[in-house]
Amino acid sequence: MAVITVMLLLVLAAAAAAVVAAPAASAAAGGGDKETHIKLYWHDVVSGASPTVVEVARAAMTNTSKSLFGAVMVIDDPLTEGPDLLNSSSAAAGGGGLLGRAQGTYISAGKDEVSLMMNMNFVFQAGKYNGSTVAIMGRNAVFDAVREMAVVGGTGVFRMARGYAQARTHTFDLNTGDATVEYNLYIRH
Ligand SMILES: *[C@@H]1O[C@H](CO)[C@@H](O)[C@H](O)[C@H]1NC(C)=O
Ligand SMILES: *[C@@H]1O[C@H](CO)[C@@H](O)[C@H](O)[C@H]1NC(C)=O
Ligand SMILES: *[C@@H]1O[C@H](CO)[C@@H](O)[C@H](O)[C@H]1NC(C)=O
Repeated sequence: MAVITVMLLLVLAAAAAAVVAAPAASAAAGGGDKETHIKLYWHDVVSGASPTVVEVARAAMTNTSKSLFGAVMVIDDPLTEGPDLLNSSSAAAGGGGLLGRAQGTYISAGKDEVSLMMNMNFVFQAGKYNGSTVAIMGRNAVFDAVREMAVVGGTGVFRMARGYAQARTHTFDLNTGDATVEYNLYIRH
């Protein structure tokens, strides 16, 4: 009798544990078993004959705002393996190594401080992630040393992606507005 009771309790305990464990084991909520770290460089090219960022809207008050509040930009920014955009030979050879494009928008969303709302897809067009994308959304206070944004999804090898991105300014030309930013992506997929 006692043995049967103990066995019954064990079975019930195991069943309860399985019910509790089920949601955590499911990848449906996002994030899988794989963890991938990608370091690359994002180039916002404002100057020259072929800019990769264009302003599509600004509010009446944007001109007098010290944080450019209300400006909306569309980007198709190159993403490279190394920091040097002009040298597109492979990073192994010391060059930039074009990996893809960052396509999307950023909005100047800080009324009293320079703070962008980034909404972009990293579209891989070379290398081992060619054909896959990573969706990034988040706050980018560009004068902070490190800005963290959310990885909210992905396609291809990055289906169901969850994670975060950290951005650090590599170079910023105050005269032209051209910027190169190092991005580190930490992705579960
Ligand atoms: C803001 O400044 C730009 C450039 O000087 C000018 O073309 C535009 O008309 C101004 N916009 C407003 C709403 O004043
Ligand atoms: C690009 O990088 C390679 C390898 O470091 C170097 O030999 C070449 O001179 C560079 N080209 C330019 C235009 O900087
Ligand atoms: C990336 O994939 C596309 C489509 O499969 C292919 O046409 C292209 O050559 C690839 N690019 C590189 C650099 O491997």
